[in-house]
Amino acid sequence: MCGIIGYKGKNSAVEVLIKGLKNLEYRGYDSAGVALYKNKELKVIKSVGKISKLEEKINNENLDTYNIGIAHTRWATNGAVTLENAHPHTVGKVTLVHNGIIENAEEVKRNLEAEGVVFNSDTDTEVVAAIINKYLEEDVISSITNALKNLKGSYALGIIIDGDEKIYVAKNKSPLVLGVTKDEKFFASDVTAINDYTNEFIFMDDGEIGVIDDEVTIYKDKKEIPKKIETIEFDLSSKDKQGYKHYMLKEINEEPIRLEKTLIPYLDDLSKLPNLRKYDEIHIIGCGSAMYAGMVGKTLLEEKADVRTICEVASEYRYKNVIYDKRTLVILISQSGETADTIATLEKAKENNIDTLAIVNVKTSTIARKSDNQIFIEAGEEVAVATTKAYLLQAAVLSLLSLKLAYDKGMIEDISSYLDEFRNISKYVKNIIDKENDYKSVVSLIKDKEDIFFIGRKLDYAMCLEGSLKLKEVSYIHSEAYQAGELKHGTISLIEEGMPVFSIITDDEVADKTYSNLLEVASRGATTILITKKSLKQDIDNEILVDDMSDFTISLLVIPILQIIAYYTALERGCDIDKPKNLAKSVTVE
Ligand code: G6P
Repeated sequence: MCGIIGYKGKNSAVEVLIKGLKNLEYRGYDSAGVALYKNKELKVIKSVGKISKLEEKINNENLDTYNIGIAHTRWATNGAVTLENAHPHTVGKVTLVHNGIIENAEEVKRNLEAEGVVFNSDTDTEVVAAIINKYLEEDVISSITNALKNLKGSYALGIIIDGDEKIYVAKNKSPLVLGVTKDEKFFASDVTAINDYTNEFIFMDDGEIGVIDDEVTIYKDKKEIPKKIETIEFDLSSKDKQGYKHYMLKEINEEPIRLEKTLIPYLDDLSKLPNLRKYDEIHIIGCGSAMYAGMVGKTLLEEKADVRTICEVASEYRYKNVIYDKRTLVILISQSGETADTIATLEKAKENNIDTLAIVNVKTSTIARKSDNQIFIEAGEEVAVATTKAYLLQAAVLSLLSLKLAYDKGMIEDISSYLDEFRNISKYVKNIIDKENDYKSVVSLIKDKEDIFFIGRKLDYAMCLEGSLKLKEVSYIHSEAYQAGELKHGTISLIEEGMPVFSIITDDEVADKTYSNLLEVASRGATTILITKKSLKQDIDNEILVDDMSDFTISLLVIPILQIIAYYTALERGCDIDKPKNLAKSVTVE
């Protein structure tokens, strides 16, 4: 993954770079580095660990006079987490930072080694620096263009060339945006790293190379091309924790207001939602929680709107022999809009002339810009690596889409009571979140355990998937979601005395069945926790009740409870809640 940022302007570069890296830390945080440049003098500083470690090193030096700089925060792909492998990398006259993966790096490296190039790291990035250095001639744009022809894979690059007071940038399949003001120019992996300084951006496309000097110039195939500067207004309030201990808790607490912002425009005029009636089959694709939000959508589309729906992880789908029908719609679910596998899915659908609809948060993202149709969730910026509010909004939008399709197809006669549920959903969710203390007894039950199961059927199983994922990613407790009926085919052998098993039961049709499964694990010693609606109340220990809502909205009540339980469990276990180990918020490599 990794995040990159660069600066050239009238002011000191280092402050902008460190602040930008902190905003990009969600993309990776195992090591970081900066390269600063002025009057032919290059200074590279790197550190293993979080950006704060790099900052400590930088604070010991006086670097304020450097007005050109590039920087990187790493999520290791090629090569272990070491100082040598941290970026920037320098070979000869070329120093660069890289986000992406070079797939033929080993082969190119071997060829360069045969020519006498000595490598000091295990990274693919050093190979990029070496190949550019090899091709370097007076015409830098031609040199970089020719050098990059040797590479396969993805890259967003920020390059400094010794003896040249400019920054060069290049992009292929990894996100790269430039920011401009009169006196300052920036590049970054995403706008949030630089939107404190400007709201004017140039979005680079694949195959383009940019030169950052007093002005910015973009080239493609060695020829200068015109590029639009886009003005984007931001809500910067999300960057602040606003008194919460963690972003995750702050973001859960934002869910009511964000639901309202996302849903109200469509509830006021349902015709603003895309017409799904023309499709015989729907494919919902995403990664991680985004795909699990898709599972809520799949269940409702099939059950309520009678349309064949596939929901799959993008990393599988992109390589499959998908049999498309002309009347297929591919729905891409993504908070960031930059997830590499989800982008590849979008490209696959387009190559097959299949309509695409993105349910996405970041309006400037690749998926937002390249899909045929978009529904924006109004999550604002989501900082915690493990998504909460964005997941809920994705599930809410898919639920509303299902309701509309069911109504359009005549499967629901009176839509008004359902629409009222959506109109009031913020109040219900706020009520759920305000009762956070009620869920803390469950936290005490699970906080010292190492294995947990979630069981449910149909829509309840979709919720289990997300509840289980949220818990394991932030608390590091091993957790698995199971279709309740599958328990007997293996998993039940793992049930031991005192092992917590969550059960979600909101679907009237299968409630009895799942409840029987819960009793089965209880009789084998499991500590059961039941989340159900008031009308299905069982009067057992560890029972959490939510209001009776329809299947279209019930998941929006249950999920915040699971998010809160995950949060407080992680808090009790002393975990790094907003930045769980090894995870990154935006997975921009395969
Ligand atoms: C990462 C994040 C998840 C997110 C997934 C998909 O794994 O930690 O929270 O659901 O990526 O990201 P996207 O930006 O495409 O929704």
